[in-house]
Amino acid sequence: MSNQTSPKLTILQPDDWHLHLRDGAIMRTVLPFTAKVFRRAIVMPNLTPPIITVPQCRNYRDRIINVVPEFEPLMTLYLNNTTSTQIIKEAAQCDFIHGVKLYPKGATTHSDDGIRKVEEIYKILEAMEHHDLPLLVHGESIEPTLDVFDREKHFIEHSLIPMRKRFPALRIVLEHITTREAVHYVQDSDANTAATITPHHLLYTRNALFDGGIRPHHYCLPLPQREIHRAAVVEAACSGDAHFFLGTDSAPHMRRDKENSCGCAGIFNAPVALNVYAQIFDENDKLDQLEQFASINGPHFYKLPTNTKHISLIKEQVSVADCIGDEEIVPMLAGSTVTWRVCDE
Ligand code: NCD
Ligand code: ZN
Repeated sequence: MSNQTSPKLTILQPDDWHLHLRDGAIMRTVLPFTAKVFRRAIVMPNLTPPIITVPQCRNYRDRIINVVPEFEPLMTLYLNNTTSTQIIKEAAQCDFIHGVKLYPKGATTHSDDGIRKVEEIYKILEAMEHHDLPLLVHGESIEPTLDVFDREKHFIEHSLIPMRKRFPALRIVLEHITTREAVHYVQDSDANTAATITPHHLLYTRNALFDGGIRPHHYCLPLPQREIHRAAVVEAACSGDAHFFLGTDSAPHMRRDKENSCGCAGIFNAPVALNVYAQIFDENDKLDQLEQFASINGPHFYKLPTNTKHISLIKEQVSVADCIGDEEIVPMLAGSTVTWRVCDE
């Protein structure tokens, strides 16, 4: 019936270039949602305590592979004041570490061990440039008086541009971009700068945070922005430009930690991520660019082969669960629907 006429899209299997898996029971709950769709993911190191050494990273990787052996976690180290040039060298020589994550101190969830000023880590960045190990950046300034919606733009002007000039050969990913300024900066950069784009920043403006009342499950960092910014980010994702690729920033938190008088930042989007990307590309008549964004630009930047398997999506309404697992995690679009379904084959 309707199945025969539903549009179908087949693309090379995608990877997720920015993912929070956490650890223990939460990881066991959330990882299957990612592994069902994505073959690999860049795994963020902001555990408590953070992943700061190569042996810690190896153990964390083993714990992930134990849960889903066919999934390939691409590991990262957390840059803090104990990171040495020796650690960078070891990481670069290690075949499963693909980047080092820079969190400005206190900018987001589990970033208390982050960096106050990028100038403090120039010695480390020099080593990363030398060993060709990518730097993954949470691009938000942390001055307490700065307006929260100006943090990304300020970071680009005051931290990223000077860092970029000083280390021109360092590969840098500006993670989860949200603004027109970030889009323009990355678009105009050479091939050593790239950006990831999340499903929620394609779908939400800042209005989503206050839709009839305060909406803790729409709260993430960097914050969603005004419509002009969302539109610029959508255009970048759909453009096919090699600078932009898929990174969900799926960031699970327990319901009680979100629905709280000081609720934490992060949206668990793994169960609907590829569906939402497909929906946005479809709405913009750019489904023909989804494979480039989801499956090709990322591996090219990270100097990895693209996947060889394919995955299909069908244009059909899918209901999203209210809540997932015993861990009580509320997914993006909980209780709502998405218009594309990922086929199980
Ligand atoms: C992330 C988390 O919960 O770890 N939260 C978020 O809002 N995106 C951290 C991050 O990527 O900023
Ligand atoms: Zn993140």
